[in-house]
Amino acid sequence: MLTEDVVLKAAKLIVNSNYLIALTGSGISAESGIPTFRGEDGLWKKYRPEELATPEAFFSDPKKVWEWYNWRISMVLKAEPNKAHYALTELEKLGLLKTIITQNVDDLHERSGVKNLIKLHGNILEARCISCSYREKIKTPYIEIPPKCPKCGSLLRPDVVWFSEPLPTGALEKMYESAKKADGILVIGTSAMVMPAGALPSFVKNNGGVVIEINLDPTPVSHYADVSIQSKAGEALPAIVKKVKEFLV
Ligand code: OAD
Ligand code: ZN
Repeated sequence: MLTEDVVLKAAKLIVNSNYLIALTGSGISAESGIPTFRGEDGLWKKYRPEELATPEAFFSDPKKVWEWYNWRISMVLKAEPNKAHYALTELEKLGLLKTIITQNVDDLHERSGVKNLIKLHGNILEARCISCSYREKIKTPYIEIPPKCPKCGSLLRPDVVWFSEPLPTGALEKMYESAKKADGILVIGTSAMVMPAGALPSFVKNNGGVVIEINLDPTPVSHYADVSIQSKAGEALPAIVKKVKEFLV
């Protein structure tokens, strides 16, 4: 629950940290109208990951996979960053938040003005050729699917990480680089079930850092978090940042 107590505790931990990082998941974009993956209304309740988010699925039916991505792309294009995204940007501007590590493929952190962002699962608003180095930004959903490479004619694919695929070059290294320095982590809107991101909170905890979790529901992180706030990110984060600013004046 979002009580004065937990807000105060979280704000104190943030102000006292030297190197705070954040891990975000689809829950932070839920209030912007983008569906999460797990849970009641989650994407994985309606769709099977192995039929849509694997290289095998793409090569057996690229049109079906692109139809699903087109639908998700149109939602991301219509969405706006919410109060939670802006609260994190404000923490970064205050110099209190060093890095945001996100599992999200939307661009809402970028559009909220965040500078130091590590995107672990790619970017849904880019497509790349499966054969050559061509890539392009996506400004509207594709009309003809599957889209083809204008350079070589091969298939274009979404520039996201599918199950069984490695993370983008450098993302893992950058993630551990900042996690090693961290003495605190905000864990926001993630079920923490997908590795390696899911292991980050316990990595920071085992290194002596503090864990502040904000999630609508309990997760595997909740029992060892120093503060676990069961609330909407768009409500909890602005309240915490407001308290942080009171400490700073
Ligand atoms: P999940 O769908 O697994 O988890 C979303 C979490 O957000 C859940 O724990 C919800 O309780 C919480 N939540 C929902 N709405 C919220 C709100 N308004 N405020 C705070 N919390 C809220 O999503 P992720 O953890 O991001 O991977 O999933 C991780 C990865 O699994 C995704 O990046 C994706 C997926 O398969 C790939 O596509 C590679
Ligand atoms: Zn090509």
